[in-house]
Amino acid sequence: DIEKSLRPKELKDYIGQNKVKEKMSIFIKAAMERSETLDHVLLYGPPGLGKTTLANIIANELGVNIRITSGPAIEKPGDLAAILTGLNKGDVLFIDEIHRLNRSIEEILYPAMEDFVIDIIVGKGPGARSIRLELPPFTLIGATTRAGLLTSPLRDRFGVISRLEIYDTSQLSKIITRSATILDVDIAWDGAEELAKRSRGTPRIANRLLKRVRDFAQIKGNGIIDKKTAKDALELLEVDEIGLDEIDRKMLESIIIKFSGGPVGLDTLSATIDEEKSTIEDVYEPYLLQLGFIQRTPRGRIATKRAYEHMGYSFDSENISFF
Ligand code: ADE
Repeated sequence: DIEKSLRPKELKDYIGQNKVKEKMSIFIKAAMERSETLDHVLLYGPPGLGKTTLANIIANELGVNIRITSGPAIEKPGDLAAILTGLNKGDVLFIDEIHRLNRSIEEILYPAMEDFVIDIIVGKGPGARSIRLELPPFTLIGATTRAGLLTSPLRDRFGVISRLEIYDTSQLSKIITRSATILDVDIAWDGAEELAKRSRGTPRIANRLLKRVRDFAQIKGNGIIDKKTAKDALELLEVDEIGLDEIDRKMLESIIIKFSGGPVGLDTLSATIDEEKSTIEDVYEPYLLQLGFIQRTPRGRIATKRAYEHMGYSFDSENISFF
C-alpha cells in the first residue's frame, strides 16, 4: 500500500508539527524510562494533517502494538469491551473520530481510561449483575477535528492534548520531496514548491497531487516534475495557484456577492452553498482562515480584502458597510 509507505515510521522523519514532536518525544522517553504506559493522548486538528500517522509513530517509538478503530465503527458496548480485553500491556488503542462515539460507549471508556477496568452487565432483569473486568494498562490515542466536539468528561481524561497545525509551504515542500524519493519520481525544488503552494497546508493533499502530477509528467513530459509541469498539471486538475477548489471559491463568492462581504452565519452559508456545516468548519474554513481570506466574528463569517482580490473583485467601502 503506497499511501501507507509514504507515512514516516519514526518521529525523526515526521516533518513539521515541531511543538507536538518535541513534547511527545519527551513524554515517550519519560514513560519508557519509568517502564510505565504513556498517558492518554488527544490529537485534534483539520483532516489530513497526520493524526493517524503520528499515532502509529507513537506506538512504534514506544515499541508496542497499535489497534486502530474509529468512533462510528464501535456500535455496541460489547464491541468496545472486545477491543479493550484483547489489548496487551502497554498497547496503543487509536480511536479516530472519537467525537462520534455514542454516549453509552463513551461511559465504558471512562473507567477503562482512568482505572483500566470495565464494568459489564451480565444477565437480564432482576437477576442482572455487573461484573468488573481488569484490563491491561494501555494508552488511548484519540483523534478528532475539533477538541470542542468532545464531551468534557472524555476530554478531561486525556493527559496530553495536542493540536496539529496547518503546514507551511517549506514544510510541505520537504514532505513532497521525501514522498517523491519514496515513489522514485524526479522532482525539482521549484516543482515541489509549486505543489506545496497548492496543497492547502495538508500533507494528504500534497501526496495525492504529487501522484497525479507524476502521471502527467510521465505521459505529457519527460517524467521530471519541474515548476512548469507542476503548473500545467495542476491547471488541468483545476487546482488554483493557492490550492482553492470549486467549493472554496463558491463559498467566497457567496460571502462576497450574496452577502455583500458578510457577516453571514454558518447555518445560512451552509444552506446557500449546500455543504454540511461540519464540512465547512472542519475542511474548508481552516485553510481560508489561515490564508486570511475569511474572519470569524460573533455575527458570522466575513470576507477580507485578500479574498476579494483573489476572487477578482475590487474591495472598497461601497462593497460593504461592515468596515
Ligand atoms: N506524511 C504525512 N505527514 C507527514 C509529515 N508530517 N512528515 C512527513 N511525511 C508525512
